[in-house]
Amino acid sequence: MLTGASTTDILTLLRTPPGERPALYARADACRRAAHGDGVPLRGIVEFSNICANDCLYCGIRAANAGVHRYRMSAEEILAVARRLPESGQNTIVLQSGEAPSPAGDARLGRLIARLKAETPLAVTVSVGNRPRATYAAWRAAGMDRYLLRFETSDAALFARLHPACTLAERLRCLADLRDLGVQVGSGFMIGLPGETHARLAANIALCRDLDLDMVGIGPFIAHPATPLAGVPNAWAADPEMHFVAIAVLRLAHPRAHIPATTAFDALFPDPSGRDLALVRGANVFMPSATPGRYRGDYLLYPDKPCVDEDAGMCAFCTAGRIVRLGRSIAEGPGHALSRAPGAAP
Ligand code: 5AD
Repeated sequence: MLTGASTTDILTLLRTPPGERPALYARADACRRAAHGDGVPLRGIVEFSNICANDCLYCGIRAANAGVHRYRMSAEEILAVARRLPESGQNTIVLQSGEAPSPAGDARLGRLIARLKAETPLAVTVSVGNRPRATYAAWRAAGMDRYLLRFETSDAALFARLHPACTLAERLRCLADLRDLGVQVGSGFMIGLPGETHARLAANIALCRDLDLDMVGIGPFIAHPATPLAGVPNAWAADPEMHFVAIAVLRLAHPRAHIPATTAFDALFPDPSGRDLALVRGANVFMPSATPGRYRGDYLLYPDKPCVDEDAGMCAFCTAGRIVRLGRSIAEGPGHALSRAPGAAP
């Protein structure tokens, strides 16, 4: 079992001078290989609805953005996408949407999870925001394997400013409930939120390690023009490579985590692809978009999202090419969490 870096180490590693970063990336890549091997688990992400009741200050599909055309895919549409995922090596479906809790909608999602488990061989990951424990328990009973819910920032005051009507404590309560229910838990944060310092970035990485997360998704903050943060620069605008330093240090701090090369990396670094670079600097997972092309333009959490004109088949094809070019392979099996450290808190 590899042990992760201490918090002091995290801060020191984040301050790696530019000339020494290639060596840091090589260490992170070796750590990724030792923990996870060269297989890249693929998770097809279906953004099945952009309806949202929240007004998170950074997010393009916030409720107050009247310029967004709202949609919700039907269960049949989602199942049709799901049935095609295994043929391209995608053994997990990630169901993501805006956060719009309702008894009817939550029950409908439970029935969808049950059908996905009964009718496909897929692992099911859900990412639809904060819910009461009882709702998570119902989804778990329906067969939900994993849940993604980023804590976004470990700074409680900043969290409160960015999320009207939600607190960091509440978000962490959700993560604790999910773990307690036996769900594999993913969280993470945005890199470069306003005012971010090396120390705050270190605290975010340390929280991922301390929560002993099974999956950690991190990606650059990119200001959306139709939000209150329009025009606010990413805190690392003067040194954008810090986004990759963050991925590498996260890997060294928390070796066993599944870390995806998130889509927002391609928005910030289009050429060469930021997602490809992330995969050789610590990340091990890829999440091709499986959202039907006609909905993609309506699910823009941030601007410059890649592949908005593609369809799911194209993303599966492109993903396979990327992985081969990197000398890696598509992982077989469901891509479940690696086992947690002995003696870790429940
Ligand atoms: N820039 C980058 N990431 C964003 N997200 C939402 N809005 C933005 C933005 N403007 C991320 C959040 C959320 C995930 C689904 O998308 O971290 O948890």
